[in-house]
Amino acid sequence: MDNAGLRDAAAGLFPGGVNSPVRSFRSVGGNPIPIARGQGPFVFDTESRRYIDFVAAFGPLILGHAAPPIVEAIRQAAGDGTAFGALTPGEVDLGRRITEATGLERIRFVNSGTEATMTAIRLARAATGRDIVVKFDGCYHGHSDGLLVKAGSGVATLGLSDSAGVPGPIAGLTAVLPYNDPAALAAWFAAHPADTAAVIVEPIAGNMGLIEPSPAFLDALQRIPRAHGALLIADEVITGFRLRYGLSGVLPAADLVCLGKIIGGGLPVGALGGRRGLMDLLAPLGPVYQAGTLSGNPLVMAAGAAMLDALADGRACYRAAELAGHLQDGVETGLRRAGVPGSVVRRGSMLTLFFREGAPHDYETARESDSARFAHFHRAMLNRGVMLPPSQFETWFVSAAHSEAEIDSAVTAAHEALREVASL
Ligand SMILES: Cc1ncc(COP(=O)(O)O)c(C=O)c1O
Repeated sequence: MDNAGLRDAAAGLFPGGVNSPVRSFRSVGGNPIPIARGQGPFVFDTESRRYIDFVAAFGPLILGHAAPPIVEAIRQAAGDGTAFGALTPGEVDLGRRITEATGLERIRFVNSGTEATMTAIRLARAATGRDIVVKFDGCYHGHSDGLLVKAGSGVATLGLSDSAGVPGPIAGLTAVLPYNDPAALAAWFAAHPADTAAVIVEPIAGNMGLIEPSPAFLDALQRIPRAHGALLIADEVITGFRLRYGLSGVLPAADLVCLGKIIGGGLPVGALGGRRGLMDLLAPLGPVYQAGTLSGNPLVMAAGAAMLDALADGRACYRAAELAGHLQDGVETGLRRAGVPGSVVRRGSMLTLFFREGAPHDYETARESDSARFAHFHRAMLNRGVMLPPSQFETWFVSAAHSEAEIDSAVTAAHEALREVASL
C-alpha cells in the first residue's frame, strides 16, 4: 500500500487516522507520512522515500532506529517468552541499572509515562493526605484526567479541563501556574499553605517546545513546596538518560521522579521512583493500589538494559549533544541569512526553533511564536527529506546515530526552507 492508501485505510479505522493525536499533522497541515521502517538516523515511508529523522519517536531513540544491540536484545528475550505475570531477571537487571544511575532507592515499572505520573500523584496524595496538585502551564505529563488541565484566567486559580470528558471536580483539584515564575509558586503556597499534595514539573520543559528553567525557578521548586509539606515530582520522562546517564540533575531535591521513553529502548515503558519510605506505600506493601499485566515486560526490560548499556560511558549522549550543537549553529545562521526572526533553544541533544525573537521562558511567550511560519518551515523541510516533529511546540531530538553528513544536509535544507519562510 502506498502512503495515500495507508492514510485512507487508517482514516476508516482510527479516529483522525491515528493512534495519538500529534501524528495527524493537524498543527502543520499537509498529510502525515506513514513510516514503514527506520534505520539509524533515517526513516523510510511506504514509498521508500528516505527522511533524516529528528522525531526519534518523540524521544526514546537516542541511538537511532533499529540500533543493533537493542534489536538483538529484543530478539533474544522474545525467544524466551514474551510475558509471564511473574518476577523476571530482566526487571532486576534494569531496576538495578536505573537505581544505581539515579540514586532512586525504589522504583516501580509501568507501561507509559502517563501511568508513571498518574501513580506518582496518587502516591503523593496518599503520603500527604491532601488532594490538590500544582502543575505548570505548557508542561505535559500524559493524559490522565487530573493532568489535562489548563490555567484559569487568573494566575493562581484551580484549573478548568483541557479535554472533554474530564469531570469538573477532578480538573478542580489541579492548579496551573506559569512556568519559570517563582513568585507565582510562592503566592500559591501563601494562599493555600496546607492543601497541596504535590507540585509536578518538567525540570527542563520539552512539551511547549524546549524551555530552560531559570535557576530561581529551580530553587523555588525545591524550597517552597517542601516548606509547606508538599512533595515535588520531577517528570523526567523525556530528560531522563538523554542529557546524561541518569537524571538531568537540575532538581536533586525531588521526592518522586517519573521516567519513560529512553529506559525502555523504544518499547512501551514508564517508571516512578523515590525514597524507600515513600515508594513502599505502593501495594502490596502499602495502601496505594497500582498494578499492570504487562509491567516490567521482559522484552521492554531487555531493550532498556541494552539501551542503558550503550549509554553508560556517556559517549552517545555527548555525541548526540555535539551534533545538536552543530544543527543549532546551522539553523541560527540560516535565520540570520534569511532575515527571519527566530530563536533556537537547545539543551544537550534536544532543541526547538521558535519563530519569535528571543528564547521564550513560559507557555505564554512560547505561544508568541509564529505557528504559521513553523507550519510552512515543517513542510519545506519535509519536501527536502527532513522529518521534524509536526508542531511548533515539540522538541527535536538528535541521536548518536546521526552523523555530520546528516546534520549538514539538514542545515542546507533549513537554509532553503527559511528563505521560503522569509518570502511568505
Ligand atoms: C514529560 C512527559 N511526561 C509524560 C509523558 C507521557 O508519556 P506517555 O506518552 O508514554 O504516556 C510525556 C509524553 O510525551 C512527556 O513528554
